[in-house]
Amino acid sequence: MRELSVSEEVPDEVVALVREARRVVVLTGAGISAESGVPTFREVQTGLWERFSAEELATVEAYENDPALVWTWYRWRQALIAAVEPNAGHRALALWQQRLADVDGGWLAVSTQNVDDLHERAGADVLGHLHGRIAAHRCADCGEPDELPPPEFDGFTAPPEPVDPPFCTHCEEGLMRPDIVWFGEMLPASDFDASSAAIRAADLVLAVGTSGMVQPAASLPLLGLERGVPIIEVNPQETELTDLVDFAIRGPSGEVLPQLLQAAGIAGRR
Ligand code: APR
Repeated sequence: MRELSVSEEVPDEVVALVREARRVVVLTGAGISAESGVPTFREVQTGLWERFSAEELATVEAYENDPALVWTWYRWRQALIAAVEPNAGHRALALWQQRLADVDGGWLAVSTQNVDDLHERAGADVLGHLHGRIAAHRCADCGEPDELPPPEFDGFTAPPEPVDPPFCTHCEEGLMRPDIVWFGEMLPASDFDASSAAIRAADLVLAVGTSGMVQPAASLPLLGLERGVPIIEVNPQETELTDLVDFAIRGPSGEVLPQLLQAAGIAGRR
């Protein structure tokens, strides 16, 4: 593994990997949305939730114990996500995806652990939403999806009181929940399988803004490793994946990804 800093010039080997790659998988985590203002999962919380870590709220047990507390946390995060914009990291991936789509046999697959839609709003197609989508909802009992109006929070000021989740309009008995994957729950099989297949076919894998702590998403890069596919990590900090990757570029993804694309001649120089 070779560690590089965002302030260094991108080395020739990395430039060549990015320039020559035709089939790219980018696995993203909370870090890619951090520069948009979405707090990552291991940050200290405030307001109604200051006594809880995100991991304590993101479980079926937490929801069953206190549906209003968990529901309000997710609705507030949904409002926060709706109020922020994609950043230069999201935009760089969307551009790279478009450029590779014009190359014979080329593609770039984004597989994200993020429940936000910032990749899509930057113009990228997402192959796998491994942990679901915060703006989608389903009944906690019967499982029927339902469209809900946007949350009434502004996304910045934490609500003073928890709000109860609405009842399901189909079975009329269950409570609604976000259509996301909580700790201990199964990942959506189609998203996970599509992401695995893409990594098995890739000639370059990037792990961007993920701590690599949450399985099974964190094991996806290993599928590339089995085939000797080069892996580049983009993250300001060392992670659980660092020892496995070929290059670790230390810096915020909103700076590193545009820099990589520029160095490889995929994005024009400013
Ligand atoms: N650019 C790139 N990476 C960043 C940036 C940035 N600007 N800022 C922070 N990071 C990195 C952190 O160093 C950390 O390694 O983003 C990572 C965020 O880690 P987590 O909060 O653990 O996010 P993630 O890996 O996506 O977590 C996985 O955990 O709680 C669950 O379901 C939730 O999808 C989430 C999963």
